Amino acid sequence: MKRGTLIVFEGIDGTGKSTQCGLLAKSLTDRDVPNIALAEPTRGTWGTKIRRLLSEGRQGISPQEELSWFVNDRKEDIELNIMPALQDNKVVLMDRYYFSTAAYQGALGLDPDQIRLENETFAPIPDRVLIFLTSPETCLERIESSRDQKSAFEKLDYLQNVQKIFKSFEGSHIRFIDSVGSLSEVHEKVLSEVEDLFEFGHK
Ligand code: TYD
Repeated sequence: MKRGTLIVFEGIDGTGKSTQCGLLAKSLTDRDVPNIALAEPTRGTWGTKIRRLLSEGRQGISPQEELSWFVNDRKEDIELNIMPALQDNKVVLMDRYYFSTAAYQGALGLDPDQIRLENETFAPIPDRVLIFLTSPETCLERIESSRDQKSAFEKLDYLQNVQKIFKSFEGSHIRFIDSVGSLSEVHEKVLSEVEDLFEFGHK
């Protein structure tokens, strides 16, 4: 069955992936390509529980339980948002998906490959995964200057491990983007990594 296109933006906090996700959505809209931008954790039932964990800290919740919250949130997102949009032939842009689960919950000591495989039993596999790389030190500086409070997940040694796992992912649909340079320079890199999925050239 023909379906829309799924493009995922991944990377540690502070790499600028959310901004780039928004810029690609705008570029697609400017070219009359129907698209929708989604983000995980969502604003749904499980996403709300997760946000409490981010702001208040883990407070003894086990890695396995934390993993199950992200998986439940994703299952809800797939059913309510992702599948309907793909069936509608849209380009779906995801700000985080199961590669984040493999990297962030993997960095808690769970097996990243097993997390990825388990997610792939129920989650549509993306057509392209853009993994943004910036040094964790720079990311933390950006977070500190742009927000009042860091989340419980934003610690240097943790983010170093998370990024190490992001760098280990393999597959022809996975592309790494060095997110140094201006917003428009990075946007150009994004366009060049996805343009083969569409019938447009650079504009
Ligand atoms: P983030 O994209 O930073 O959301 P927001 O910009 O709305 O705060 O995601 C919040 C945090 O959740 C981030 O530190 C990464 C973490 N996370 C996981 O640990 N596992 C996951 O599966 C996902 C989707 C996110």
